[in-house]
Amino acid sequence: MAEIRIRNTNERISGEANVKAFLDKQEVLYEHWNADKLPAELQGKFSLTDEEKSQILVTFDEEIRDLASRRGYQTWDIVALSDATPNLDELLKKFEQVHTHTEDEVRAITAGKGIFIIKGTDDVGYFDVELEAGDVISVPEHKPHFFTLMENRQIVAVRLFIETEGWIAHPFEDPTFQKA
Ligand SMILES: [Fe+2]
Repeated sequence: MAEIRIRNTNERISGEANVKAFLDKQEVLYEHWNADKLPAELQGKFSLTDEEKSQILVTFDEEIRDLASRRGYQTWDIVALSDATPNLDELLKKFEQVHTHTEDEVRAITAGKGIFIIKGTDDVGYFDVELEAGDVISVPEHKPHFFTLMENRQIVAVRLFIETEGWIAHPFEDPTFQKA
């Protein structure tokens, strides 16, 4: 289940209802899918064949189509990252820059973990959303954020798009942002 850490105060927010209430206020969508639907052999697999990626999409087809029909997503795919990913360190360096998009960024975590770092309202500042299997998040368009992995450096997620071009990253220069 997702957990929040507010960077300025180190305050942590846990429990589905509290996390959802906090994210609602920040206009970040949060939902939860049953990640146990995934066949056991895929729950711990981070290097995936195309067939395995299709199998994940089929497993969550109902949840994906429900979310897509409510929010207008047209296409979706699977992203898998782990130490088996070529140039993972370089990729993460590129990821770890605050940026925005012209459409919302949607991720449904099906295995592993990840963090979204999001610029909240002025009274909150930057906060981390730590995500694990089953967590679904949508960061609104134009909201500064970045994504990175957690210590285990393993994640599989469904990405949903209105148009894939909407997901191009626009750097957001923010002198108030402090790493970690
Ligand atoms: Fe992004």
